[in-house]
This record gives sequence, C-alpha cells and structure tokens, in this order.
Amino acid sequence: MAEIIYGMGVSHSPHLSTPPEQWDRRAVADKRNPAHPFRGGTYTFDELVELRKGENLAARCNLDVYRELDAKNQARLKQLADRFAEAAPDILVIMGNDQREVFQPSHTPGFLVYYGDTVVNKAVTAEAMQGMSPGIAESIWGTNPETDITYPCEPALANHIISTLIREEFDVSASNELPRGDDNPRSIPHAFGFLYRRILNDRPIITVPIFTNTFFPPNQPTAKRVLEFGKAVGRAIKSWDSDLKVAVSATGGFSHFVIDEELDRRVLDALANRDDAAIIGEPESSFQSGSSEIKNYIATAGVLDGTGLKMELLDYIPCYRSEAGTGNAMVFMTWS
Ligand SMILES: [Fe+2]
Repeated sequence: MAEIIYGMGVSHSPHLSTPPEQWDRRAVADKRNPAHPFRGGTYTFDELVELRKGENLAARCNLDVYRELDAKNQARLKQLADRFAEAAPDILVIMGNDQREVFQPSHTPGFLVYYGDTVVNKAVTAEAMQGMSPGIAESIWGTNPETDITYPCEPALANHIISTLIREEFDVSASNELPRGDDNPRSIPHAFGFLYRRILNDRPIITVPIFTNTFFPPNQPTAKRVLEFGKAVGRAIKSWDSDLKVAVSATGGFSHFVIDEELDRRVLDALANRDDAAIIGEPESSFQSGSSEIKNYIATAGVLDGTGLKMELLDYIPCYRSEAGTGNAMVFMTWS
C-alpha cells in the first residue's frame, strides 16, 4: 500500500515573491477594500486603523523591517524546498483553493479532486497583468512561469481518492480538465502554482491537486468537515494499492489580509498538539477571506492523522504592511 512519508505547509503570499521595496503596493488594495473580516466583524481600512491603534503597527511597516522579514522568508522557502527534495516523495497531494481564477459564482464546488493526466500552469499575458490588483503583477513570477508549463498528475491515485471519498459519503466533485474560459482549459490557480514554482522549482513531480472552497460563500465547508474530509483523503491514500511514497502539502494562510496573531497562535498550537477539538471549536468567522486558507492546513492535518509524522513549525512571520494591521502572516511548516 502507498505510504504517506512527509507533510508540508507554506504561505503563498505575493510578498514572498516581491522585493521589500514594493510591499507597500498591496496596502493600496487594502485601502480600497470596504469590508475586511476581523474577529467576527467587518471593517473598512480606516476603522481598522482606529481599532488597532494601541498595537502601534505603524512601527512594523517600514523598509528596514520589510528587508529583515524578506530575508527570513526567503531563507525559510529555501529550507522547505531543500527538505522536500530530501524527502523525495513520488507523488505530492496538494490541499489548496481557488480564488476565482478557475471557479466562478456560476459554479463553485465545495470539495473537488482533480483526476486529469496533467495540469497546466500558464504564463500570464501582459494584458492580464494590467488588470491585476495593486502589487500582484510584481509577484507573478512566483506563481506563474514565463511560458506555459505542463505538470504530470496521477489519475490512478486521484480516482482511488474519489471512489474512497464517495464510499465514505463525501460526495466530492471531480474534474479531469479545469473549466474552460477564453483561452482554456484554465491555468491551475496560484495556490498550487506557488508550490510548483517556489518549492518544487518546476521539477515535474507528479501531483494530485485537491480543491476546497475556503473563500467564497455560500458553500464553504466548515472546519469540522474539512478535517474529516482530510482524514478520509488520508485513509484513501493509505489504502491505495501501490508502493509509491506520498507527501501532502497545504498552501496559503495564515491570517490575511488582516493579520490576527492570536488566531494564528491558537490554530498553530492546535495543529502541533493534534487538538482536533480546539480546531473545530474555532468559529467559522475566523476563517474568512485570506484567513480561510488556514483550512488547507486543517485538511492537511487530517490527511496526516495517524501517520505518526510530527508537525514542526519552522517559522511564523507576521508581515504587516499597514497601520490597519493588513498584511500576511507567513507560516513555514513540515510534518516528518
Ligand atoms: Fe491565496
């Protein structure tokens, strides 16, 4: 039977692929956003500035700090890439999400397993770059290649995961080709592209992309359901008739676009201690907008349940970009 030998989790923020001199550009987008979820409420940028003024976050938003944080982030990315290469799995199952790059309001699956032979990470056209939110085009090299790259997938494992999930009463969506758009099939979203580019360094390892709709109402699966889903995926992998070695990775998070260090620490402690009750006790309001990607880690912890692999938090690096507390808290973790 297949063996799960390694786990990983890494943020995929634009800041990880943007020079620190340009981090402020994402704050322009933050100011335009009229509804930032934070601790159960929803706030404008100016309301957040008022709410968080006691934290003196402005002191953490200058180029000296950005440079220091960027150096740490880059060192951790390299460490994760090196550790992944050392672990040398045959297949990587990726627990990720879409941000309206593929799935639209006309159809958004709650959970989807991709069972195509290959997946394409497309180059971004100059025209598409023009239309991007401030600060994204600068970072696009970290998620998308200069020319399209096709990566191999593993339909045999994906099909086994789908049939196991269905038997276990998870009526999962399935796709063997990402939905078509203007020039399609569409590119694999940035949540996955970041791993291909920055951790796998475009090496053609076989992957199985699994999507959870973490972001978008009305059908975001709950943290409890995500954890159970992950566990079922783990049982599927371990019952696959193959002698291949499998790794699993979460992509995204932790709290953003408003950083909440208290939330992050609660969830990181719960993951480290395998405290399922604490994970599912967290209110769903904690997992909205970018912070919803924390659910990819909950799914991954589910997959790794019972493997004996132990979580190691290599680093937790909150990267603030405004006095409103907007930014992205970076995590770099492994299970080995
Ligand atoms: Fe994301």
